[in-house]
Amino acid sequence: MVEANIQSNMHPKLPMQGVPQPGKEEVMHLPRVHISTHPVMRHKMTALRDKNTQPPEFYRLVKEIGALIAYEATATLALEKSSIETPMGPMVGERLAGGIGVTPILRAGLGLAEGFREVIPDVQVWHLGLRRDEHTLAAMEYYNQLPHKIELQVCYAVDPMLATGGSAIDAINVLKKRGIPRLSYVCIIAAPYGLLKLSQTHPDIDIYVAALDESLNDVGYILPGLGDAGDRQFGTF
Ligand code: PRP
Ligand code: URA
Repeated sequence: MVEANIQSNMHPKLPMQGVPQPGKEEVMHLPRVHISTHPVMRHKMTALRDKNTQPPEFYRLVKEIGALIAYEATATLALEKSSIETPMGPMVGERLAGGIGVTPILRAGLGLAEGFREVIPDVQVWHLGLRRDEHTLAAMEYYNQLPHKIELQVCYAVDPMLATGGSAIDAINVLKKRGIPRLSYVCIIAAPYGLLKLSQTHPDIDIYVAALDESLNDVGYILPGLGDAGDRQFGTF
């Protein structure tokens, strides 16, 4: 018995070891979950995942994928009428109604937010720092620079990796306290486990995913995934 305890102290249980996980087919048709099927997205995802892709190229791809998914995630935004004059005469056009916010979850969300800015240059960027503890996988907030004046029609929380869902759930909790009328979450790769948790905890938000992967390994990394999205963007190996 004593020997068994010594053994287990020497090898503490890994955070996802033995935790049951849903399969892809159980989560891919959840309400308000949108998984990209675009061939250009799939093409870029392969280059992103490749272990030989170096940080400058990786960051460039994250931005490009961010722009593609921003295009998909903004397809239902509200418009308002706007009178203008073309060189040929007057017309009534349309503009986006109300402000658009993007909350990059630091630090890996920064590249994705840049992709959003390529599509909508006047988005407001609200930075939120969450770091997950590598032993417990719990997310801890360390930076919050959200403004108090809210005039947004929607805010997108963006982060490349939805693993256990802890960071995403906490980010949406923080944003909900700001009273924004509509919230969405955008990621590049989701694990079924985190996707189910996020969807169950926040069934009132839209979730946009570039690719749905197989599972989490024992230490909470996505398989086949792409490794550590922050380290690969910023070269901090
Ligand atoms: C990564 C990733 C997410 C989180 C996902 O960030 O960018 O924020 O882990 O994991 P979860 O779904 O299990 O919460 P990390 O905490 O490593 O910080 P970083 O962005 O600074 O690299
Ligand atoms: N965070 C990452 O950067 N990668 C994973 O696979 C999981 C969490």
